[in-house]
Amino acid sequence: MSFATRRKPLAASQSHEGAHALKRTLSWPHLVALGVGAIVGTGILTLTGVGAGLAGPGVILSFVIAGAICACAALAYAEMATLMPAAGSAYTYSYGVLGELLAWIVGWSLILEYTVVCSAVSVGWSAYAVGFLQNQLGVALPDALVAGPHAGGIVNLPAVFIALAVTGLLLAGTRESANVNFLLVVLKLLALAVFVAVAGMAFNADNFQPFMPYGFAATEGADGTRVGVMAAAAIIFFAFYGFDAISTAAEETKNPGRDLTIGIVGSMLICTAIYMVVAATALGAMPAAELAKSEEPLALVLRALGQPLAAGMMAATAFVALPTVIMAFMFGQSRIFFAMARDGLLPTGLAKVSDRGVPVFVTIFTGLVAAAIAGAFPLGEIAALANAGTLAAFVATAACMMILRVRAPELKRPFRTPLWWLVGAAAILGCIWLFTSLPLGTMVRFLIWNVIGVLVYLAYGRTKSRLALSSPAA
Ligand code: ALA
Repeated sequence: MSFATRRKPLAASQSHEGAHALKRTLSWPHLVALGVGAIVGTGILTLTGVGAGLAGPGVILSFVIAGAICACAALAYAEMATLMPAAGSAYTYSYGVLGELLAWIVGWSLILEYTVVCSAVSVGWSAYAVGFLQNQLGVALPDALVAGPHAGGIVNLPAVFIALAVTGLLLAGTRESANVNFLLVVLKLLALAVFVAVAGMAFNADNFQPFMPYGFAATEGADGTRVGVMAAAAIIFFAFYGFDAISTAAEETKNPGRDLTIGIVGSMLICTAIYMVVAATALGAMPAAELAKSEEPLALVLRALGQPLAAGMMAATAFVALPTVIMAFMFGQSRIFFAMARDGLLPTGLAKVSDRGVPVFVTIFTGLVAAAIAGAFPLGEIAALANAGTLAAFVATAACMMILRVRAPELKRPFRTPLWWLVGAAAILGCIWLFTSLPLGTMVRFLIWNVIGVLVYLAYGRTKSRLALSSPAA
């Protein structure tokens, strides 16, 4: 077997004990909270407006399409995560099924996804925090310190601050972080419920006409950006993921078979239902073109309806609850890195966990990189890049699920994807469809990232991998 196709034995990903094990402290309520905490964030709070600008009221269709594709991917994740409950998520599944080189590429894409999601949400948080400080507390920060060089500033300092603050929370230990997360998730859901109750009273069906002013497919708009329902779906996709981050907590769950299934499928279903209601409410309360003008569309709707208190509450919630999204992705990222280092594809010294069960070095490293990117780059570009990395991981996971069903039908599967061939194919084709609807510049950046990744692999992992060292002739 060549280095590119050598596969990690499946049994090796089904249990990890000893010095390289993580503490089992989580059960399904923590995982559902972790999932909802990771999913509901900048996507619904901010990108709803961006999507409305790209697709008009047809953005509701973008939500349906992105949600349906993610639901198929979530089922594949639930099957794979319960079958191989290891910290590496899609990377680990790929290592056992697709071979080392593809696993490396998936892991490298996940590092990109998790790091830049943390950066993107930090930038989104910064916008809400700055607005909240200004409108609610009357505190104005200097322009140069709230925007990166791309927008004429020096650094987005609040974004850097929140990325580092969440890193500190994670270093305090998984259990504490999960409990804080639980409280903030409840707050976030309450704020969205208030939004639906208040804005729902202003529902006007006329706002849904014309439904698809820019058509369905992703096409070049007047200013060169891609518009249409699919272009919006490729961006709105950002709002739906996060359930994948739960699968990286697999080694820390008390009862992986039950906890992971409920955590992944449950959080995905809850969020999809909430999004449909929130998006329809926002579109019914305000014309899509108006929503598109705001970086805080939900608060804008409430202000326009003469509800400044509810608008302030929405902003305050974003202020305290968006960090749960960063927390979940940083948590996931540190564990992907951990799994890759444990396999020898990254320096193994990085895999060490502290007495409290926290991979300290990786957490600090991830926090610093995420903070640096958040301080310097614009939200849209970072979010689109995060989507590209996520789509690659989703395709790999669905492919692993399908291949294993054929290659090893006898394996005991705590969760079985219903109609696996249909759901698996829909997840793969749907993700490719979304990928091809992304901005062209994003696709190029993603390609460059992976070319760099393959070079790193050839220079390091190819010879240092544990599989290579245990069977040098391979
Ligand atoms: N789904 C997450 C969000 O919308 C990434 O912020």
